[in-house]
Amino acid sequence: MDRHARLIDAYERRIDYLRISVTDRCNLRCVYCMPPEGIDLIESADILRYEELLRIARIAVAHGVTKIRVTGGEPLVRKGIVDFLRSLSLIDGLDDLSLTTNGVLLKDYARRLKDAGLKRVNVSLDSLKRDRFQKMTRGDNLRQVLDGLEEAEKAGLTPVKINMVVIKGFNDDEVIDFAMMSRTKPYHVRFIEYMPFNTQEGWQREKCLTARQLKEMIDAVEPLIPVADTKGAAGPAKRFRFKDAPGEVGFISPVSEHFCGSCNRLRLTSDGKLRTCLFSDKEIDIRKALRDGSDDSAIEHLLFRAVAEKPEGHQINENVFKKCSRTMSLIGG
Ligand code: GTP
Ligand code: 5AD
Ligand code: SF4
Repeated sequence: MDRHARLIDAYERRIDYLRISVTDRCNLRCVYCMPPEGIDLIESADILRYEELLRIARIAVAHGVTKIRVTGGEPLVRKGIVDFLRSLSLIDGLDDLSLTTNGVLLKDYARRLKDAGLKRVNVSLDSLKRDRFQKMTRGDNLRQVLDGLEEAEKAGLTPVKINMVVIKGFNDDEVIDFAMMSRTKPYHVRFIEYMPFNTQEGWQREKCLTARQLKEMIDAVEPLIPVADTKGAAGPAKRFRFKDAPGEVGFISPVSEHFCGSCNRLRLTSDGKLRTCLFSDKEIDIRKALRDGSDDSAIEHLLFRAVAEKPEGHQINENVFKKCSRTMSLIGG
């Protein structure tokens, strides 16, 4: 294999974005993600060590990955995460290093993360009401998350993005409050369509508000102005802002209008499986090769195989769609 061949899939999509889940542990229990007692945790011996993750990351970057996102579970609960991020940030050729977090520990970590070379954070937050936050996450940590957002902004982990999963009848009455945060703070507030995963809570199409419906709700209060995608910022979110607002409002529509045609990502689970698509249970085991003394070319081969096997897209809207066997906490979004 050409040592610097690029990762391009069967549909001519260039794969330059790797999402690494560093742990399946989490300090919250969001209803749409986990049952109250939690899920069976992966044995710690089966979790990839940081050196193993770094080896994969370096090989991926050598083949054209320019963007890495670290996810979980909750990545900040894994010991040694700051040093791991520092090592990632030093990989030559990596342009964007970001983290998706629930924000509970962010206040304490923000400065250290920034100093370690992390560029930015995306924070999951679904309610600004203490009792509802508690109901949704089964944790009483709203204050910490809000403080974490402030601290991330101050530390320069910007743009600070907020991900709100909107569930009809549960938190849709807070959409305007969330959008208005972008008026007073430079946050990028993103509304995410509720996607079907394997949880007790039970997904129903009626509970999913589409990006179009959400935008109409907001436009009726105050019109949104489209924001042109700046180079490097292009992602699945459709971006807008209010006139003169410091922040932005975005919509991510995996259910109503999928963005698979421009999919550029590959996922690595904490137990060392390459996942070809968020919704596909097709996984390629990379852990075995890491641990049986295989050389880098064997690892490269597995990366290329995972890319070659990426499906054209998900099938949420076709009847053949099946919920995936891993929950979000095991994939990292
Ligand atoms: P940015 O680079 O900051 O735009 O990040 P991102 O949107 O790629 O990452 P983030 O972890 O914040 O994900 C936001 C939401 O989009 C989450 O709810 C994800 O589940 C969803 N999402 C991310 N990637 C995919 C994907 O490949 N397919 C689908 N269907 N949804 C995705
Ligand atoms: N639908 C949409 N987004 C989800 N997330 C977790 N579960 C779902 C779901 N069923 C989001 C989290 C986080 C991101 C990684 O995935 O809120 O922002
Ligand atoms: Fe890519 Fe699969 Fe997500 Fe579509 S659903 S954007 S193919 S990972």
